[in-house]
Amino acid sequence: MHNDFRAWLDQHRGRGFDLHQKHINPAFVKMLRAIGFDRDYVRGEGCYLWDEQGNKYLDLLTGWGVFALGRNHPKIKSVLKQLLDLDRPNLVRMDCGLLSGLVAEALTRHTTDQLSRVFFTNSGTESVEAAIKFARCVTGRQDIIYCDHAFHGLTLGSLSINGADFFRERFGELVPGGRKIPFNDLAALEKELSGRCAAAFFVEPVQGKSCEVVADGYLAEAQRLCRKHGTLLVLDEVQCGLGRTGKWFCFQHWPDIEPDILCVAKALSGGFVPVGAVITTPRIMDGVFNSLERCVIHSNTFGQNDMAMATALATLQVIEEDKLVENAAAMGDYVMQKLRPIAEGCPFVSAVRGKGLMFGIDFARPRSSLKLKMAWDMLHRLNFGVFGQMIIIPLLDKHHILTQVAGYHTEVIKFLPPMIITTQDLDWFLSAVDDVLADTQRVPGAAWDTVTGLAKRAMLA
Ligand SMILES: Cc1ncc(COP(=O)(O)O)c(C=O)c1O
Repeated sequence: MHNDFRAWLDQHRGRGFDLHQKHINPAFVKMLRAIGFDRDYVRGEGCYLWDEQGNKYLDLLTGWGVFALGRNHPKIKSVLKQLLDLDRPNLVRMDCGLLSGLVAEALTRHTTDQLSRVFFTNSGTESVEAAIKFARCVTGRQDIIYCDHAFHGLTLGSLSINGADFFRERFGELVPGGRKIPFNDLAALEKELSGRCAAAFFVEPVQGKSCEVVADGYLAEAQRLCRKHGTLLVLDEVQCGLGRTGKWFCFQHWPDIEPDILCVAKALSGGFVPVGAVITTPRIMDGVFNSLERCVIHSNTFGQNDMAMATALATLQVIEEDKLVENAAAMGDYVMQKLRPIAEGCPFVSAVRGKGLMFGIDFARPRSSLKLKMAWDMLHRLNFGVFGQMIIIPLLDKHHILTQVAGYHTEVIKFLPPMIITTQDLDWFLSAVDDVLADTQRVPGAAWDTVTGLAKRAMLA
């Protein structure tokens, strides 16, 4: 082991792609190379990344929502450095650690009175898995209702309530009892609930894959129906929670919502240490852990570890002190107001939607212009998912903005800016989108040549 970690890393500079090709995931390497995303990022700070050549990029992908505070936030770094020097008795297991207690106290300060109990996890999907178990345990029911296009993670339980067939194919039989309904459809929800077999209804207030937002009044009625039929309402705020949408929790945009279980993760990590949490009521927690014998009936080895807890505590403090929820609300309004007219001027845009700093542009076959319709049809005959590359490739290549298509077999490009973002950086983004959308309308043109080539290569592969 090298004593000088930086020198050790420098010695191996530039080997990342080859190592991944050999030892990790060659298909992913191939995909990155195909779309020109094979860049070596060497530094991250705040909203930005820098590559080896010193180019600066605006990061609107934020590690799939992890870097809500931006990268390498100095306050979190300072707490972690101090923690390492404290030689604390981490993960004793047969004790009640102070740090996890403090995080639970800080986290529940921002929820409703009833949501006062916390189970710590190591990821979003683990939060969802725990919520599935808790709901089944306390209701004595098996079924889980979930939405079309839902994404709750990719372990078996979460995958069983994934709203896209693509993710489920070829993984065999999943956890039984999943019942899919259309998003924002109360009649379909009531129909499923009325069978009185559902332990829980899982829903993301803003869907990560589609950027669809629950309609006004939807959660209140879903909550009323769930209570009437003895089903728990579980809100998956792994992506939209902790300030991103302009409220501490997204459900707080609507009055009188009190989920039975709330799942969080991503942003709680401060971008440093994996951590998630299931926030729920005493009734549910006491229903699961209902005797001394069952006091650790659901647990994990690394949950509540000091690194994760210190990071989560510091993260919650930064969000509060730096008024990042307020900034997310203001910047979300700013960008939406300006993005809508830009995007709606492009015939390929079918919708701009989202909440706060979680928003996307949805694309569809244009209604006007025969030439554009023919170009769209030709590309989709070659490959369904490639249109989005016409947006994300020039955003990175020409404008140095990192984004991604939101999901497989969707035409949504999603943006998850850090909650520290400023109007100046949003203006950088807005002018880039304006330029890229204009290029899509030049048929024939360089943008179409690039994606047609990509689609042909994908077909041959
Ligand atoms: C809403 C939602 N739930 C759950 C998950 C799974 O989280 P993780 O990847 O940490 O397991 C995600 C991840 O993107 C998510 O967006």
